[in-house]
Amino acid sequence: MSVRRLAEKQPASFAFTPANLAWAKAQIAKYPEGRQQSAVIPILWRAQEQCGGWLPQKAIEATAELLGMAKIRVLEVATFYTMFNLAPVGRFHVQLCGTTPCMLRGADDLKKVCRRMIGEENEVTADGTFSWIEVECLGACVNAPMAQINADYYEDLTPDILTRIINDFSLGKTPNPGPQIDRINSAPIGGPTTLTDPSLFAANGKGAERGTVSHPDNDAKKPGEAANLRDAPMPKAPEGDVTDPRRK
Ligand code: FES
Repeated sequence: MSVRRLAEKQPASFAFTPANLAWAKAQIAKYPEGRQQSAVIPILWRAQEQCGGWLPQKAIEATAELLGMAKIRVLEVATFYTMFNLAPVGRFHVQLCGTTPCMLRGADDLKKVCRRMIGEENEVTADGTFSWIEVECLGACVNAPMAQINADYYEDLTPDILTRIINDFSLGKTPNPGPQIDRINSAPIGGPTTLTDPSLFAANGKGAERGTVSHPDNDAKKPGEAANLRDAPMPKAPEGDVTDPRRK
């Protein structure tokens, strides 16, 4: 983990757009009285999206003001999480996982591709198109090595595959995210090796075919779409808790 500091060159001001301000207030309203600060991460994330992928100091301060927090508290959050960029990034920002499983599966060779095609870590290409950083585990270790590019994961990478993906972006194409080899999601290469008995998936008297997906991906995030655009439904109040403000 490197020292994370605010960019030297900063815009003079920041204000949430009316739409983002309304969205932020709706996030804050989800939390019980006295717990509004819990909305700090989604609001910082929305501020970062509004600023083209990075968080200027004024955006951090505006978030603090909105939440009634000390500026230093919000700065602590923004500087702790590498998902928050403290300096401008390229239109396509590559977050390359360098943690042990990805490192053992070839992440060091992927770094060489990034250096060759983009430049040094944390630099933005002269045309503003690309930047990259090494990050800690992104939670897709089963498909290591992997990288997140903007809102999408690209998994099972090799130097050749990453080269092709970066080239595609520079040509205006949108390469398909997810595993880049012949496997479904995080299933074993070559197909399932366990839980292969169809009777295991029988429900309500109806058998399920092997390979049937009980929860299709139709409602999942689409390529290029920010994950936080799909809000989770408001959870119900716990049974028996008459003090919960979510209970009408
Ligand atoms: S170690 Fe790379 S995704 Fe977990």
